Formats: sequence, C-alpha cells, structure tokens
Amino acid sequence: MISFARGSWLNLEMLVRLLLALVVFQEGVASRKDKEPLYLLGMFPTYLNQSMHVIGKDCLLSARLALKHVNENPDILRDFSLEMVEIDTVNKEGWTVNELLQELFMNYSERKNNVIMMIGPLRNEITQIVARAAKYWNLLQISYGSHSPELADRATYPLLYRTIMSSTGYNDPRLLMIRQWGWKRVATLGRTDLTMAMEDMQTKLINNSIEIIAKETYDDDLVQPFKFFKEKEVRIIVGNFYENHAKFVFCEAYRAGLYGPKYVWMIFGHYHANWWLSGDLNGCTPEEMSAAVEGAVSVGFQTLSKKNVETVGKITPSDYREIMLNMTGTDYNTEINPAPFSYDAIWAAAIALNSSIARIKPQTLDQFNYNDTNMSIAFRTSLDELQFMGVSGLVSFDAAGDRRGECRIKRIINGTDHDIGYYRGTDSIIWYYTVEEIFASSGGKPPDDHDITVTDYQKDSVSYELLVSMTAFASVGIAMACGFLAFNIFYRNERLIKMSSPNLNDLIIVGCIMIYGTAILLGVDARLLSDSQLKIMCQFRAWLFGVSFTLSFGAMFSKTWRVYSIFTNKKLQKRVIKDYRLFVMVGILLLIDIAILTLWQILDNVTVRIRVLSKKDEIPDRPNTIVVLQQHNCGGELSMYFIWAVYIYKGLLLVFGTFIVWQTRNVNIPALNDSKYIGLSIYNVVIFSALGVPLSYLLADNSGYTYAIVGGLIIFCTTLTLCLLFLPKVLRIIYGYAPEEVGTRVMSNINGRQGTRNGPSEERTRSVMIGGEYSTVVQDERERSSEAKI
Ligand SMILES: *[C@@H]1O[C@H](CO)[C@@H](O)[C@H](O)[C@H]1NC(C)=O
Ligand SMILES: *[C@@H]1O[C@H](CO)[C@@H](O)[C@H](O)[C@H]1NC(C)=O
Ligand SMILES: *[C@@H]1O[C@H](CO)[C@@H](O)[C@H](O)[C@H]1NC(C)=O
Ligand SMILES: *[C@@H]1O[C@H](CO)[C@@H](O)[C@H](O)[C@H]1NC(C)=O
Ligand SMILES: *[C@@H]1O[C@H](CO)[C@@H](O)[C@H](O)[C@H]1NC(C)=O
Repeated sequence: MISFARGSWLNLEMLVRLLLALVVFQEGVASRKDKEPLYLLGMFPTYLNQSMHVIGKDCLLSARLALKHVNENPDILRDFSLEMVEIDTVNKEGWTVNELLQELFMNYSERKNNVIMMIGPLRNEITQIVARAAKYWNLLQISYGSHSPELADRATYPLLYRTIMSSTGYNDPRLLMIRQWGWKRVATLGRTDLTMAMEDMQTKLINNSIEIIAKETYDDDLVQPFKFFKEKEVRIIVGNFYENHAKFVFCEAYRAGLYGPKYVWMIFGHYHANWWLSGDLNGCTPEEMSAAVEGAVSVGFQTLSKKNVETVGKITPSDYREIMLNMTGTDYNTEINPAPFSYDAIWAAAIALNSSIARIKPQTLDQFNYNDTNMSIAFRTSLDELQFMGVSGLVSFDAAGDRRGECRIKRIINGTDHDIGYYRGTDSIIWYYTVEEIFASSGGKPPDDHDITVTDYQKDSVSYELLVSMTAFASVGIAMACGFLAFNIFYRNERLIKMSSPNLNDLIIVGCIMIYGTAILLGVDARLLSDSQLKIMCQFRAWLFGVSFTLSFGAMFSKTWRVYSIFTNKKLQKRVIKDYRLFVMVGILLLIDIAILTLWQILDNVTVRIRVLSKKDEIPDRPNTIVVLQQHNCGGELSMYFIWAVYIYKGLLLVFGTFIVWQTRNVNIPALNDSKYIGLSIYNVVIFSALGVPLSYLLADNSGYTYAIVGGLIIFCTTLTLCLLFLPKVLRIIYGYAPEEVGTRVMSNINGRQGTRNGPSEERTRSVMIGGEYSTVVQDERERSSEAKI
C-alpha cells in the first residue's frame, strides 16, 4: 500500500506481475498444503537372485498400482499424496533390518515427513523381526504375504495386521465342514512349527463337542503318529503342514495305509498346483502319491475374489487380473500369488489413514512421529473398524489383526484339485457341488468319522425267488398227490385198486405230501425266522421228514411184504394178512423213528449255531462297513450221531425194502405187486441221495445252492415215486385193463360183488385177504414165484 502511494514509477505491468506472483505463491502454498506427502514404507523381495523375486516383483507392482488408484481418488486422503519408500528385503532378515533402520532414522532428511505405516514384508521370518521392533516405533505394519499363525500373537506383534489370511483362518471353514459333514471324531496332525493354528483348531473343536481322538505333532518321524492313528481307527485327519512337508506326510500315509475312500485329510490349500507330483517325493512314486492325496480336502486363501463387484479402487477383481496380467504375465485366476493382498494392503493403509484424520484432530497426519502413541492407537482403531471391498474380497481384520477373508475349498478328485466351494468368511460356505457329487467316490456321502465299523450281519439264506419256485413245485406235487389220493379213495372198490391195498396207498400218499411239506420248510430259514423259531423249525423238520419218510416207504414195503409173505410161505395154505397188521408194522417202524427223534430231542441240546461264511470290508460304495455273511444252522453236540442213526435206520429200511422187492419181483399181478416200481423208487432215492448228500456238503457255504439241490431232489424223488406207483394205475383205470392184471383166475371175493372174471378156478388156490376182500390166487402163480425165489 505504501509503495502504491509512494511510487509513481509503479506501472501496471509491475502490478500485474506482483499480483500474478502473489496468486502463484498462494497457489503454490495451497498445492503443497493440499498434497502433503505421506510415506508408506514398503518391503518387497525383488532382488533377482532369490526364490521370491517373481512374487516380490508382482507384489511391488501391485502396490504401486494401488498407490496410483489411491492418489487418483479424490475421496480419499484429499489433502495428502500417498507415497511409498521401497525397500528390497532380498528375502533376508538382517538385510531388511539394516535397510529399515537406514530409511527410518538416517535417510529421512530426503523426506518431508516421517514414515507413517509399513507395508510387508513377504516372508514370515522377516515379518516377525520387523513387527517385533515396529511396536517401539509406533509404526503400524500391514503384511501382504506372511500367513504364519504365530504372527497372530497380539502380545508380541501388537501393531501387525495382515491382508493375507493366516493358517488359523482356515480353522473356521474347516470346523464348518466338519460340522456340516457330521463328523464327531477327528485327529489332528501338525508340524511343531504350526502349533498355534493347531491349538486354535483344537479349542474350536472341543468347543463344538467334537472329540479329538488323537493329537499328534511331528518333526521328522511319522511312523509312531501313524501307528497311533491306526490304533485309534482315525478317519478324519486335520493336517497343518506346509507344502514341502505335505509330500513327506502323504508318502508316509501311503506306506501306513492311511488313505483311500474311508479317509479324509483336511490340509492347507495354498500349495502349488499338483504339488504332490513335483519335486522330492521322499521315495514314493507319483502313482503312490496320487493315491495317497486322492480325496484330500483343502482350505486355502482366495487371492483374487470370486465376486466380480467394484472394489474401492474402482476396478473389479477381473479388471485387476487383466491389468496385472498385462503388467506381469501372471494370471491370478490360476496362480496363487499374494499380489492382490499387496494391493489391498495399500488400500487398507490409505483408508485407515483417511478415517484417522477426524480421530486425531487437532493433529494432522503429517505430524506423525515415532513416539506418537496416540496417533498409532488411532490408526489401530481405524484398522480394527475397517471394512472395504478389495480385489481379494471383503477386507476386515479380526482382534488379532488377522484377515477375515474368503477361502477356497478344494478336493482332490481323480487326481485333480477341484474347487468345491468357497468360504465367505461369514460362517457360511457356498458349495459348487452337492455332497453326493463331492463324495461320489465314497458312496455319495462323507465317509464315517470312525471305524467302530458298522457291521452289517447278513444271513446267508435262501432267496425268496428260490423259496417261491420250490414252493410252487412242491405245491404242484402236493396237488398231484391229492389227485392220486382222491383217485385212490374214489376207486377204492375197483378191483385193480382194491387189490393194491388202497389203505396203505393212502398212507404212502399222505407220507409223500408230508415230504413235499418238508421240502418247502427246508427253505424257511433264518431270513424268515428268529433264532428261537429256527430251532423249533429245525426240530419240526427232523420230525416231519423222519415220520413222512417212514410213513411212505414203510407203507410201501409193508404192502410188498404182504405179497412177499403170501407167495413165499409154502406151509400155510391160507394166509390172511389183514391191513391192520400192516398198519401195526408201519406203526412199529414209526415207533423206532419216534424213539430216535425223542432221544435226540432229549439228549441233544440243539441250538442255533452261527457260522461266519465271509467277512468283507472293502466294499465299493459302502465305506466303514464290514459285511459279515453268516449262516444260521441248527446243531448240537450229539447231532452228528443222531443224524447217522437216522441215516442208518432209513438205510436199513431201504435194504429191507430192496430185499422183499427183489423177492417179489416175479409176482405177476400188477395190481397186487408194485415191486418193480417200488424197486425203481428205491433206486432213485438211493442214487439221488448218494448224489445229493455229498453235493450239499460241498455247497454247504451257500444256503441257496444247498436248498436248491436238497429240496429239488426231495421233490423230484417224491414225484417220481408217486408217479411210478400211481400213474400206471390211473392209466389202467382210464384205458381199461386186462383181467389177468388183477390176478389170473382169481377167485371172487367173498361178498361176490366183483365176481370172478374168468370163472371159478378149479385149481388150488390161495386166499389172500387184501383190502378187506378175500381173493384166491391160483397156486401155480405161487409156485412160479416160489421157483423164482429159488
Ligand atoms: C545372480 O546369480 C547368477 C549366478 O547364479 C549370477 O551370474 C548373476 O550375476 C547374479 N545376479 C546378480 C544381480 O547378483
Ligand atoms: C475419507 O474421509 C472422508 C472424510 O472423512 C470421507 O468423506 C471419505 O468417504 C473417506 N474416503 C474413503 C474412501 O473412505
Ligand atoms: C541412505 O543414504 C545413503 C547415503 O545417502 C545411501 O548410500 C543409502 O543407500 C540410503 N539407504 C537407503 C535404504 O536408501
Ligand atoms: C465356544 O462357543 C461359545 C458359544 O457356543 C462361544 O461363545 C465361545 O466364544 C467359544 N469359544 C471359543 C474359544 O471358540
Ligand atoms: C472320477 O472318475 C470316475 C471313474 O473314472 C468317474 O465316474 C467320475 O465321474 C470322475 N469324477 C470326477 C469328478 O471327474
């Protein structure tokens, strides 16, 4: 103002210049004040000659991209520009510490402000050292790549946050799976360096009432732990180990047999693709490794989010993928690379700083120094509360500074790692497949958690089809027998029938019907009956068969015996053998049977014995199941003797039968004498018994075969016997028969109802009482038979 008044020399040009300078100066101040630089210190292993340099480079480029996006965004840190001091860690602890100290405390003169937060580093060990020191400098640190669970220890690392999920973060989705799949017993196997994550898991398991049947940690020896697992019948194994150890674990698991559809290994999911086939396989072949890892379920962090929504950086995860693909050539869809975490770490720092602006008033961010505890507490609060959508999914931190994040859930199926679902971090898993599809190889459901195996006792028994068909055959036989019985009763006064002892025929038929019944009942076995019922059934069958056999064959033989005694008795001119004597004879035979069976019943303690035929436990589609095939049979200590007694008795009966049949083979009155047919029947019975008994012993392990053979033979022999005895009679009645068939020159019976067909005989006759009728058979007939006998 003074100069204005004083100086006429002041011209317009000067004034304009001054004003301009003033404006420029003020603008300059404003600009500098607007964009006060804030320094992040980023640690990345980018040095060429170390294993991490590719990942380190990617993470660095990703962080730079994030810085660019932050600074372009007018909504965030409007008055500041965010910059990054980059340190190459060379992947070495000592080197990093040295560089860090230089940057923080020596080279700061180059910068306007102090470093305000640290990003990184990648490796667990370096992060540990830096984070231990950082608390003394009040520097918050956000790591993008260290997932060691140790780092969650808030007492040691109070200012450390991570945008990568720690292995402890896998525990929640694992627990969720264990609960969803209904497992109640699990084992844990952890390497000693991962005890923290394991302890967390164990606490969670116990809290959810899931029994931990074995807790094993190991260094190099897996033989003992695996032995213990086998003893405890472990099926579900929660494993905490890194990739290089995983190969060793699975090779040993293969040797110990702890693999297959019955087992589920739950492992880390951030190993390299096809990790089980590459590198040192500890002496296992790739095939063995593939077999061992088959079915393993893994949980790993999701590096690039699956949700394609816009993130804080105004790009979607797939935009990000494309930008990075162009820049680095790495496809984060397929490769596990922490670069997205690095991007989100920068954003987390930026947002936390942005929201701390209000919190630290009247201080400003650029006033931060390494003694400023208040500001560091404000930053912590901001980070604890922070939640934003990053390229790796929703970013937020838990009380330990660990990332709450999304997890990929994978299962190795048919030798390929398949994504089966993802964990959203909100206690829920989105499944891409149904449980049936996921566990298709284990029978469509998760394997059981234990091997106190479901033993499925199956009774070896006759199939319904066989029983039904046998019953059908037997029923046809019974119907036929009933037909013969009706025929026999209806024509009982027909001479042909009368001569053939119809009462005894009835007995034969009744016996045969009972034998058919036995054939059916043989198939009514353990499948249909309880053991106590089976015991009664066994005894009943023994009685039924014993009695019916004696009834039919006894009647047959006694009938023949009558013929035999008539035609061989030379002394008696007139021999009358009435039916009741034959019945008595059958009765005596039956009494012997009854005596044997009663003795058996009394002396032998018959019980149902269970015989194990086979035991199978490797059944496809039925894991953890042992199928035991059992045969329920009746047996007693003395049964063998009684069975032999019955055999011998029946055998003697057949021998006796054979004898008299042989003796009477020439009695040529078909109506009177069934010898030939009876002989044939005996022949059948003997042959087929000789065939059937050993065969049924041979096939005793299969109730079905045994029943088919024994039942079939019984029905066959019975049917044959019935047909042999009665079919000829039926045919003769239908088609007529020659008179001599009922005895040539046979005298009329006493009541004369029938009359003699050939007129009265003059010859010497013998009266025979058959079927209540007296018939006189000519003597020469007898003599012929007598001669034959000689
Ligand atoms: C990296 O190591 C190779 C040999 O392994 C060497 O030739 C090269 O000079 C090293 N590069 C640097 C940058 O040290
Ligand atoms: C940064 O802070 C300002 C003022 O508190 C707020 O309006 C803005 O939304 C914040 N930006 C972000 C990205 O949170
Ligand atoms: C610190 O400054 C010195 C000298 O100016 C330089 O040699 C050194 O590399 C710098 N350190 C870092 C970490 O930049
Ligand atoms: C155990 O479960 C209860 C609820 O069931 C929960 O409140 C508690 O925090 C859990 N404890 C741990 C250590 O997870
Ligand atoms: C695995 O292989 C079996 C038999 O080759 C096949 O039935 C099944 O569908 C395959 N499963 C998957 C997920 O490829």
